[in-house]
Amino acid sequence: MRGRTGFWGPSVAGISLDAYFDARIATFFFAALLVFLSPSASVWAQGNPAEVHEGVASCGGSACHSRLLATGKTVRQNELITWQDKSSAAGAHSRAWQVLVTARADAITAKLGLGPARDAGACLGCHSEPTAAAKRGELFKISDGVGCEACHGGSGGWLGSHYAVGATHASNVAAGLVPLEDPKTRATLCLDCHFGSDKPGQFVTHQMMAAGHPRVSFELDLFSALQSHYDINVAYAKRKQLASGIKFWSVGQAMAVERALTLYGDAAHGQEGAFPEFYFFDCQSCHRRISDDPGTPLSAEANPGRPLPAGTPPFDDENIIMLSAVARVAAPGLAGSFDENSHAFHAALTKDRESAVAAAVRLAESARLAAHNFSRADTMAVLENVLSDSAARYTDYAGGAQAVMATDTLLNSLVTAGQVSRKDSVAIRPQIDLLYADVRDPNSWHPAEFRAAMRQLAASVRRFN
Ligand code: HEC
Ligand code: HEC
Ligand code: HEC
Ligand code: HEC
Repeated sequence: MRGRTGFWGPSVAGISLDAYFDARIATFFFAALLVFLSPSASVWAQGNPAEVHEGVASCGGSACHSRLLATGKTVRQNELITWQDKSSAAGAHSRAWQVLVTARADAITAKLGLGPARDAGACLGCHSEPTAAAKRGELFKISDGVGCEACHGGSGGWLGSHYAVGATHASNVAAGLVPLEDPKTRATLCLDCHFGSDKPGQFVTHQMMAAGHPRVSFELDLFSALQSHYDINVAYAKRKQLASGIKFWSVGQAMAVERALTLYGDAAHGQEGAFPEFYFFDCQSCHRRISDDPGTPLSAEANPGRPLPAGTPPFDDENIIMLSAVARVAAPGLAGSFDENSHAFHAALTKDRESAVAAAVRLAESARLAAHNFSRADTMAVLENVLSDSAARYTDYAGGAQAVMATDTLLNSLVTAGQVSRKDSVAIRPQIDLLYADVRDPNSWHPAEFRAAMRQLAASVRRFN
């Protein structure tokens, strides 16, 4: 579990999001016009080239995104260097394919009977850029891993025009650029690889885990910051609609709940032979140490959010706990039914698959909370819920780890919005670092100590003025 290294971007407090939203809609119509007037308009007649992935090399021209330093006028222009950074998480996507040509990856595919990992479709959906062969431009290379266009979209429709005079974000989006500033769009994209999807080669089964694949852990806002190769500043807010950290976080939680429940209900992913697909269940709850020595205390604890008899594998509820914490603030009228549906879902898992899938559908539906703009008081209330009110539900490692990422993200969101001073945040940083240490290793997870540390932090946060 990795922490954020610093706070990013200057404060953008005071910027009216609504004003920018209006401006965006206005430029959209103007931009739609531009697309038809631009030189590439003729290509449209031959079929939509927008989905063609031209390859990382076509983004990395020296006049484009491969400067050594962030000296660009509008964007940094050294994005390629960050994406390639060997020493940090920011460079992970350029390594995604390279890890498939290691002995470790081949050992995984050998156990699964899949042949060399570099050719295994079951791995390439996430460890390379998912693109149909017919949509690959001349410079496209599988070995580039998760390249620029895996996230920003195939650039066939906008590569030559996105920086031109008169091009706007809206005109680029109309030509196929993915609007990653939108929390829902971004969450959908990242979850495909950082949780799983029903698209080819984008699901890590428990069998892959048992063959040696690491656990997959994710939180939208924190992971965005970890791979950041851009600046969120006033100029950015002029180009694009801004969303706060807590918005990214809460949308990320809601979409993760929905994704997990939908895939679990899917016949192709929910089961593994006669068993449920274990990937959806809390890893550590099955992988506990046991002993015949009656002196060894049992480690499973009752969880108030999960009405399960001892010995039942619990569905991994890390995102459900977070969404409950946010729902109580953002949608108090709906929070009750979300919690009821979540209780009912856990209970249905002890009945049969049919009841469980039906309950999963109901829970996924109640996870679709309406958009909410979070005030300082709202964010503080969500943080209080995460640190204190929900603490009794951190009986298992996955929920604890997700709660630490939430804490980090929420505090960061408050600082970025100028709602908590940097001095206050620096003062409590050691407490957050201790929480990260508590969740570093799933095998040395001590829930009671963890809950106490969370409540202590809640007390410190309450002292913020
Ligand atoms: C659903 C997407 C997905 C699929 C499918 C997938 N992986 Fe991964 N893999 C990931 C992610 C995400 C990580 C990084 C985990 C983290 O650190 O959070 C990862 C990490 C790894 C690592 C460790 C890399 C490192 O830098 O430590 C290896 C090795 C690996 N995967 C191999 C494979 C192999 C082999 C397959 C096919 C059998 C495969 N993966 C299938 C998403 C996937
Ligand atoms: C894992 C997904 C991902 C990959 C891979 C990726 N980006 Fe990004 N990029 C983002 C996100 C998310 C943002 C911030 C949201 C946005 O688009 O404004 C961003 C922002 C940017 C921006 C700033 C946009 C602005 O308006 O300020 C540029 C420029 C950029 N990326 C270029 C690149 C290039 C070049 C590459 C390849 C070398 C690349 N990106 C690879 C996800 C990605
Ligand atoms: C096409 C699949 C794919 C997509 C889409 C994707 N990722 Fe990844 N990501 C990976 C893989 C695979 C790894 C692991 C690579 C490795 O460890 O070598 C990874 C690693 C990372 C890491 C480094 C994690 C660590 O612990 O070192 C971060 C951060 C990250 N991704 C953020 C994001 C964000 C944010 C998005 C959405 C904007 C995103 N990713 C979209 C496949 C993807
Ligand atoms: C319902 C119970 C259950 C859940 C939940 C579960 N596992 Fe497993 N796991 C097993 C069983 C059973 C085996 C097979 C043990 C054997 O082969 O001896 C296993 C094997 C493994 C192994 C191989 C261990 C070894 O030493 O050979 C790994 C690694 C693993 N699981 C990881 C995970 C991860 C990661 C998760 C969560 C995403 C998870 N498991 C969730 C029951 C579970």
